[in-house]
Amino acid sequence: MQHYLSLQDIDSLPQWVDEAKSLKAAPQQYKTLGAGKTICLLFFNNSLRTRLSTQKAAMNLGMDVIVMNFGSEGWALEYADGSIMDQGTSEHIKEAAQVVAQYCDVVAIRAFATLTDKEQDKAEVVLNGFKKYAGIPVINMESSVGHPLQALADAITLSEHNTKKRPKVVLSWAPHPKALPHAVANSFVEMMQLQEADFVITHPKGYELDPAITKSSTIEYNQDRALEDADFVYVKNWSSYEDYGKVLNQDKNWTMTAKKLGKAQFMHCLPVRRNVVVADEVLDGVRSLVIQQANNRTYAAQIVLKKILGTL
Ligand code: CP
Repeated sequence: MQHYLSLQDIDSLPQWVDEAKSLKAAPQQYKTLGAGKTICLLFFNNSLRTRLSTQKAAMNLGMDVIVMNFGSEGWALEYADGSIMDQGTSEHIKEAAQVVAQYCDVVAIRAFATLTDKEQDKAEVVLNGFKKYAGIPVINMESSVGHPLQALADAITLSEHNTKKRPKVVLSWAPHPKALPHAVANSFVEMMQLQEADFVITHPKGYELDPAITKSSTIEYNQDRALEDADFVYVKNWSSYEDYGKVLNQDKNWTMTAKKLGKAQFMHCLPVRRNVVVADEVLDGVRSLVIQQANNRTYAAQIVLKKILGTL
């Protein structure tokens, strides 16, 4: 069974990017592929882009779509085996996943990290619970650890705007008042490790991502040095991984400005806090690719769904 849970489920990133660009050129070309098939989108957390782009992608392939805001409208789920459910949870993932699977052919799930329990987050209990019990393909619409649909859209966007054989791409941490998950940064790092590029991660000390994900990627603590001669700058906040889920500093010197960006093109997954993460002048400027990134979410989801539909 083909799932899309992480970047590891892509057999050839360049090929998927090319196929996604072909879908973008003619989005309705496989309009009958998903006829008679249903996708269920389950949101345990808020969304704008993921919800609408995944729905649009499914519609482009002729699928029917059911959407449920599980986090606010579903029963509180239990994940532990053998638990005595006399506290807050009302339904076990074993029944819930099997029930959902009777109503659809593919299930897509958004379930963010708690940022309070590192081991539970790493276990991906929601995503893996559905994978274990639903018996149908599962798509990750942002889990505790990764956001592979975003990273695939980012790969499409890079491919469309890159003119060099080996561009310099920088992932730059930014300040934020709230503790945010690591998922977007993790998947961007994993995606960049599949690219031919000079890739640099920059953040203040204490904001190291999971070393099992960054592996041998270059980390430069001096942001100015990291940004030198950059072609693309991907800005994102994340909370501490080591001091799990903590906001260690909100140093405004890390906010992306036009001066820091220089001639590079600016990327961010959105939503973004203006003049905290990035200055207005950058977001509103000609070097910003954020709207194109959001557009490419549709074709990232569409190539994933096309691959999965081909296996049903
Ligand atoms: N980038 C992204 O996943 O956006 P949403 O949270 O709005 O879906």
